[in-house]
Amino acid sequence: MVDRKFFVGGNWKMNGSLSQYKSLINDLNKAQLDPNTEVVIAPPALYLLPAKDLLTENKKFELGAQDAYYKPSGAFTGEISSAQLKDAGIPWVILGHSERRTIFKESDEDVANKTKAALENGLSVILCVGETLDQREKGDSIKVVLGQLEAAASSINDWSKVVIAYEPVWAIGTGKVATAEQAEEVHKAIRDWLVKTVGKEVGEKVCVIYGGSVNGKNAKELASQPDIDGFLVGGASLKPEFVDIVNARL
Ligand code: PGA
Repeated sequence: MVDRKFFVGGNWKMNGSLSQYKSLINDLNKAQLDPNTEVVIAPPALYLLPAKDLLTENKKFELGAQDAYYKPSGAFTGEISSAQLKDAGIPWVILGHSERRTIFKESDEDVANKTKAALENGLSVILCVGETLDQREKGDSIKVVLGQLEAAASSINDWSKVVIAYEPVWAIGTGKVATAEQAEEVHKAIRDWLVKTVGKEVGEKVCVIYGGSVNGKNAKELASQPDIDGFLVGGASLKPEFVDIVNARL
């Protein structure tokens, strides 16, 4: 089995305030984090640059944006681009989050365009995929997830800059976590797809992380699955238990 790094992302979504992010980042700077876990925090875009100033010299984590438009600049009110993230020294971006897909009606094509632009600008991407409850109940989970991946794959020429986040929509923010078996089944299908599509050597190295109601209590069991290489965490990334999630493999 290939020894993949463990990866944990904290997606703060549209939460927090100046004072809250300062204390969260200072707490993380002080925390004992597993040095073998790669950690990326994604605060609202407004807070990225001041958050960057709070990173310590021996950075225990990196920063990421929660989205980025694919055009480099222009008349796109309200958007920020991958080129601007690069300019600002923000190395990561989350793309295709289900809240972007459902609330803001992003299509597979939008996600593919954004992925292409992010990689062209040298950013690393957390690419999110996941099925709705209705799709799961119809037995279509794997078909939906692989379809979303296929749509983005043609935009990816460097898989070493991509982490795939499997986030079943029905588990996000609901407190209804996928069982370790349910998650592992989809993660295994993603791994098999990667190996088949991009080859064994590259495909086995890509981190496939799980997101959806992960907390300090359920992280360890999920992390023990062979194809779960970490987490994308929403609600619990704003709480002290985030440290336990980062340390789930200890
Ligand atoms: P949650 O969100 O941990 O609050 O369920 C996960 C996510 O949306 O990435």
